[in-house]
Amino acid sequence: MTIMMDALADPVYAKLAQHVPPGEWVLMHEDISAIRALKRERDAIILAHNYQTPEIYHGVADIVGDSLALAREAMMTSAAVIVVAGVHFMAETAKILNPTKTVLIPDSRAGCSLAESITAADVRKLREQHPGIPLIAYVNTSAAVKAEVDYCCTSANARKVVEHAAARAGTDTVIMLPDRFLAANTARETKVKIIAWDGACEVHERFTAHDIAQVRAQFPDVTVLAHPECPEEVVNASDFAGSTAALADYVARYRPARVALITECSMADNIAAANPATQFVKPCNLCPHMKRITLGNIRHALETMSEQVVIDPALAARARVSVERMLDIP
Ligand code: 13P
Ligand code: SF4
Repeated sequence: MTIMMDALADPVYAKLAQHVPPGEWVLMHEDISAIRALKRERDAIILAHNYQTPEIYHGVADIVGDSLALAREAMMTSAAVIVVAGVHFMAETAKILNPTKTVLIPDSRAGCSLAESITAADVRKLREQHPGIPLIAYVNTSAAVKAEVDYCCTSANARKVVEHAAARAGTDTVIMLPDRFLAANTARETKVKIIAWDGACEVHERFTAHDIAQVRAQFPDVTVLAHPECPEEVVNASDFAGSTAALADYVARYRPARVALITECSMADNIAAANPATQFVKPCNLCPHMKRITLGNIRHALETMSEQVVIDPALAARARVSVERMLDIP
């Protein structure tokens, strides 16, 4: 009885009561309480991506955000242990920026179709084929790929990095990999020519302009916000496109009455509490990789201090150059 009352009295529950029934919350709360205690014991912080489930996002995360925010926070934290509630490339980025700290990923199988679409050897071949052209890797790439490129970028700063890289190299062209849709959507915003790789996000590539037309037909007052990993036709049919943090900021700033977030499903659930006046309508798609991270495996990671992210120090140092160049762009 007390366990149940304690769980329901936790102020966090109000933020996710819409999505989590009380019985489930009581079960989750056992893990949440254990994780909170373990964080203190281990001097750990949890960085959670915006696509994590609401019980992780609101219940145990210390920092939530898009890939850029998580990379910046990873660089600034004084905690001894960083747990990344996100996919593997995000944990690698945290380790690249914190080579002496312990970085844990609760399930190392949490991959990403973009990161898997290109290897370091592919990047070396691109450099040979396009001498003198700067290479920019989306943060959704492995440490080995980041070690081969000139700059890293995220969906929050892609245009800025493209223009900066071209100006620095004195070229009118850059190579941007591996997401062909992010490359095409960025190319629409700049005069710099972009040579793209043929990768795609398995979650965002599934959205179509027809999905947007259907939502607009059903809800004529809807504001459509899309992630730039979506195909161009989807971004064209939307009212605004941006990183997951930019989408959340748009909702907080303009308080639209009805929003379709054309991205991963948990985004809407996570920002609903802070935006009670906004109705969120589907469609959305689940990222199976993000969904590998659970309260159970976060708890296990902190209990056992595994799995630790390990990157060869020489490779991490090379990868750090491209990530830091991105972070240094104002
Ligand atoms: P953001 O950097 O916009 O959060 O995107 C990360 C991602 O994996 C989107 O699919
Ligand atoms: Fe990768 Fe797409 Fe999942 Fe983001 S949503 S982690 S880009 S597969």
